[in-house]
Amino acid sequence: MNESAHILLVAPTHYEVRYAINPWMEPERWLRDAAGFGAQARRSFDALVTALRAAGCRLTVIDGAPGLPDMVFPANAGVVLDGRLLLARFRYPERQGEEAPFARAFDALREAGVLREVASLPEGVFQEGAGDCLWDATRGLFWVGWGQRSNRASVQAVADYFGQPVVPLELVTARSYHLDVCFCPLAGGEILYYPPALSADSLARLRERVPAAQRIEATEDDLAHFSVNAVSVGREVVMSRTTDRLRGVLAERGYRVREVDLSPFMMSGGGAFCMTLRLDRRSTAPHAETVAAVTA
Ligand code: ARG
Repeated sequence: MNESAHILLVAPTHYEVRYAINPWMEPERWLRDAAGFGAQARRSFDALVTALRAAGCRLTVIDGAPGLPDMVFPANAGVVLDGRLLLARFRYPERQGEEAPFARAFDALREAGVLREVASLPEGVFQEGAGDCLWDATRGLFWVGWGQRSNRASVQAVADYFGQPVVPLELVTARSYHLDVCFCPLAGGEILYYPPALSADSLARLRERVPAAQRIEATEDDLAHFSVNAVSVGREVVMSRTTDRLRGVLAERGYRVREVDLSPFMMSGGGAFCMTLRLDRRSTAPHAETVAAVTA
């Protein structure tokens, strides 16, 4: 049975690529056919909605805001666990304007009873949301990326707020500017990751906690397809069009891969995962919660 995931999406109405804050971004290419790419982005978004619904996810779609094109990547807006949301603080001025509209959207979700608390980071901490802070439901911990957008201090801030174990992972390349570009905990317990993106220490930390049989190494080609930036729910995996190699590896492990053409969003350095924010993550497995509720 599927965990029923509740996912936040932001409609791509104001999406465009008009600055470059990561090496994948192509504003000049976008400008050559802004209207065409805009239309393509809306079709890609609709296809993502269809794929996520087919994978059994419940979706909440909010509006973005003019002048804030990257709002379409809500994974960067906050970290959520047990109904508690820690608001992001963005590294670059290009995205800092997103903080206020996202905070308003999360307050509305709190009023609607979807979230129960919305909190801010301490001063001086940069933390770009779930893009750099991935909940590993199998191990009951957060993998926290730092070194590109989020700073080292964010690791402690996440640990302090959520009171859950955290494992810091240092990102050492500009192409993997967020952890979710190069690292994905799959629902079955495997970790799909691209080794060259992590420091030697961080790789050792990962290999200490995840046995070889559960480590799936992505290739440079998988990374360039934004295949590691995947949404994993139960046996379903939703991602941008992937490689024959990775499609085979995942199928062999029993995953059903749903591929979507996300090329207009890859022109901004994004794939399926960063276009989503899971609102329903719990620190205890849903099964354990049911048992607790019954015996209480
Ligand atoms: N253009 C956006 C940026 O550079 C893309 C963000 C994609 N998000 C992610 N979690 N990988 O900030």
